[in-house]
Amino acid sequence: MSPPLSRLQLALTCFLAALGAWLGSSSDPDLLLAWATQLLRPSALPVSGEREERPSDERHGPLPSTVYARGLVNRRVRAASVLHEHQAFFHNTSSRAFAGVAVGFASPWAARADETVWRFSRKLTHVAPVLFEATAAGGVRSTIGEHAGRRWLRWLRAATRSAAGRQAWPRLTPLVSLERLDLLHYFTGEGAEARAGELLLSLQTALLTMKLDGFVLHAHAHLAWLTLEDRRLVQPKLHVFVQLLAAQLSGEDAELLLLVPPHPGLFSATEFNQLHEALGGVILATANFSAVKATPGPSAPISWMKRALTELNPSEEASSKLAVTLPMVGWDFALPDGPGTPVDSQRYLRLLSRHKNTWLEWDAAGSEHVFKYHADGVEHALYYASLRGLAERLGVLRQLKVGFAIWELGTTLDYFYDLL
Ligand SMILES: *[C@@H]1O[C@H](CO)[C@@H](O)[C@H](O)[C@H]1NC(C)=O
Ligand SMILES: *[C@@H]1O[C@H](CO)[C@@H](O)[C@H](O)[C@H]1NC(C)=O
Repeated sequence: MSPPLSRLQLALTCFLAALGAWLGSSSDPDLLLAWATQLLRPSALPVSGEREERPSDERHGPLPSTVYARGLVNRRVRAASVLHEHQAFFHNTSSRAFAGVAVGFASPWAARADETVWRFSRKLTHVAPVLFEATAAGGVRSTIGEHAGRRWLRWLRAATRSAAGRQAWPRLTPLVSLERLDLLHYFTGEGAEARAGELLLSLQTALLTMKLDGFVLHAHAHLAWLTLEDRRLVQPKLHVFVQLLAAQLSGEDAELLLLVPPHPGLFSATEFNQLHEALGGVILATANFSAVKATPGPSAPISWMKRALTELNPSEEASSKLAVTLPMVGWDFALPDGPGTPVDSQRYLRLLSRHKNTWLEWDAAGSEHVFKYHADGVEHALYYASLRGLAERLGVLRQLKVGFAIWELGTTLDYFYDLL
């Protein structure tokens, strides 16, 4: 049972119904309701001062030509061109340029994530809200609260199911993180088996009550915090847990995907080969390459991405289960050797608008664009995703027959989706 609508929600629903009719788009009441409740979610509201006035010369919304036809997929790019073009996209958002696994992560805190899901989710095979974490007692908790979590999932389901054919629906597979757990105690301490059993049950319940299509398990990266000895104890238990969970989900016609670090010590070729058949996918989190090393540089150099993939030594058939994350979080480094600060699309665009005539530089070693600017007498190098950088990565992924994942949808620019 949904709770009764407030007057404000009703007013919005009516307004949106009228708007929907006017646009001739969808009269699907679920979707409209979704929009209504969406408008009331705090994360959907613009943060004051974050929005710039839109100059009238900016292109906006659906266009009859793609970024290729518009001549934008270049290494030579000016800040002004990004500002002018990024909000315009090819009108047919249900045409897919990519055949493999295509996962979009959505963070509840990113203001633009929901709008992006609503507009572009037909380009994806899975939408993965970053929502759940496992608790020490074996439960599963929504990080934005029980009620808000359910409401968001309902909204996402409606938004992703507005596509015409059922085949085109992306699956809704929330991320479950084991980040807050003491993994050693959790998997090997007293009562470990009961706890794992409890967690399996909690996930099963969440799957059925919230009508999910599976989960993305984010566990292996957290092994990095353990000593080598402890890791040797925990890894086999986690491996068994993954197998049990995958089997349980496939019994419900649902899928388990893993988000793993690009590091063979934390997720190895052996593990991949034993697990891939039972899984819906394995996503290598190739991001933050230079930020982790605290040296200015590209976020995910292509050669590093390729090496991470080949280290898993996938057979032709197994590579269809693999995906890598595309670097969508920008990193701003104060030169010569300042540590990186993460930058989202809003901040990136604000910085570009202060330096409109600057040309972005092409970092040939990493195949990424870098935007260099001065602020308070300090030179900065900002690595942020660009059309050309993404196009080159997607070319490599196509060759290797591997899919992609976007971390995360709220930090992307609309014209990127023409490439996907
Ligand atoms: C959009 O692209 C899809 C897939 O390529 C195609 O089936 C559909 O007819 C296109 N729609 C329009 C309006 O062109
Ligand atoms: C990269 O850094 C961003 C920002 O700190 C973080 O949200 C994201 O989870 C990191 N990604 C990986 C794969 O570590």
